[in-house]
Amino acid sequence: MSEVAAKAPHEVSRRRTFAIISHPDAGKTTLTEKLLLYGGAVQLAGSVTARKNQRATTSDWMELEKQRGISVSSTVLQFEYKDCVVNLLDTPGHKDFSEDTYRVLTAVDAAVMVIDAGKGIESQTLKLFEVCRRRGVPIFTFMNKLDRPARPPLELLDELERVLGIAACPMNWPLGDGVDFKGVFDRESNQVHLFERTVGGKFRAPVNVKGIEDDSVRDALPPLVYQRVCDELDLLEGGGSPFDFDQVRKGQLSPVFYGSAMNNFGVQMMLDGFLKIAPPPAPRMSGDQFIEPASPNFSGFVFKIQANMNPKHRDRVAFIRIVSGCFQRDMSATNTRTGTRMRLGNSQRLFAQERETVNEAWAGDVVGLVGNYDLQIGDTLSEEAGIKFDEMPTFPPECFAYLHNENTSKFKRFREGLDQLLKEGVAQPFELPDAAVRVPLLGAVGPLQFDVLKYRLESEYNAEVRLEFAPWSLVRWIKEKNPEDAPKPVRGQVGPSRPNLVASYDTTLAQDVHGNWVALFGDKVSLGYFESKN
Ligand code: G4P
Repeated sequence: MSEVAAKAPHEVSRRRTFAIISHPDAGKTTLTEKLLLYGGAVQLAGSVTARKNQRATTSDWMELEKQRGISVSSTVLQFEYKDCVVNLLDTPGHKDFSEDTYRVLTAVDAAVMVIDAGKGIESQTLKLFEVCRRRGVPIFTFMNKLDRPARPPLELLDELERVLGIAACPMNWPLGDGVDFKGVFDRESNQVHLFERTVGGKFRAPVNVKGIEDDSVRDALPPLVYQRVCDELDLLEGGGSPFDFDQVRKGQLSPVFYGSAMNNFGVQMMLDGFLKIAPPPAPRMSGDQFIEPASPNFSGFVFKIQANMNPKHRDRVAFIRIVSGCFQRDMSATNTRTGTRMRLGNSQRLFAQERETVNEAWAGDVVGLVGNYDLQIGDTLSEEAGIKFDEMPTFPPECFAYLHNENTSKFKRFREGLDQLLKEGVAQPFELPDAAVRVPLLGAVGPLQFDVLKYRLESEYNAEVRLEFAPWSLVRWIKEKNPEDAPKPVRGQVGPSRPNLVASYDTTLAQDVHGNWVALFGDKVSLGYFESKN
């Protein structure tokens, strides 16, 4: 047995790869920072906050983030904790949606959903949750900010079930909220963890109790709060969803933890519970074949590409989620889209602006390949031939804009920058074959993607651009009923392949980057008309 084959099962079984999803301000950054403390990555924990608060100091690239108070770039944090290797993928957390966030979620095996217990489920939580649910990813819930007035804990659970349609099983129970927040009761171990507001997030060791009726619990709580907690736990015993490991793993039941990230309270309980219950990397499909994570052959897919993260180097990083086997620096693998064999030399682990060379990584890990590799989002890299992961969902754009080059003497930079950013998937290009002047038409899931594109073209490529919003808000790909009959599309060509369709005056035919025909609609009425006529 090769060394890789011998080590793989253990290495895979100790990996946990996840993302934190939340509505802006629910506490994702704070929770990330506290989680890192447990991994002993204290200096890193500091830099998460630093990144959020002093973005100007990190790089010009972060300037837009600073202006907009958003996080555009994502990084991957890795730390070891209790013999587990934890990979935490940072998702961009702005309220405007981007495809980038969706793509990061294809690379995880579980998600932690942070909810502000004072507010409950908010719009962004719902959207991100939907993406995770579609992939069947197990979802853990952290009800945050219990140190502030919160909504009743039963009501929050009920909302999860009603609004998200997922059963919820509280793993611990809050003892009061706001000024009355005294701690949590761990339902499994019958322990009470008492909360003390201290500087630096220190807290008292958990107290073993016989149950919630133990005198020490009664004494610790104001009488009214104590009575309420007893009533709530009674209700829960009678009607709550029981814990079911298989259901959690299938993404049908969410284990819920109450706490306060800022006070570092309930975070370790959540992390311990998460690591115990969350799955290690699972097999992924290549066609109809399962690729096992512990298989000795390396394979992985590109879920994110980003250029110019470090303006000093002007380089390009392709983030690979490893699906199987062991990645070793300088190994060779094939890009199965192009058939090109490449040496994977400059492999790095990235943390914000810091980088570290990766010599070895296993299924579940993420490595950044730095340099001009011919890689696109969704590409599969594999040691074995014939493997192709189809993990990357495509999202129909909901807004469209023309991108004008405003300075002809800078056209080369404009084109170079646009090509690069389109490769990164910042927006989707379309062509209007009937247009008299060819101005790039771009589609995006949210308008922020256009802002990012414009900003980056100007700051990184010194181009001068202007966005002109286009009137469409819906797009549909046009397919022949019998695909065999369909003529091969020819990109940018009005020819025999152009479909003959009936449409209203505000509907326009265009072609996507692969030459496939799409119809662009101004509204649902035009779409409805189109569907009824064709
Ligand atoms: P995000 O990444 O999801 O956008 O949220 P972030 O962690 O930045 O938290 C948003 C705000 O909520 C921050 O306050 C943060 O301190 C606060 N917060 C996070 N967790 C808790 C908690 O458990 N209890 C309380 N009371 N507050 C919490 P801020 O004023 O915006 O920033 P800062 O100046 O405190 O850093």
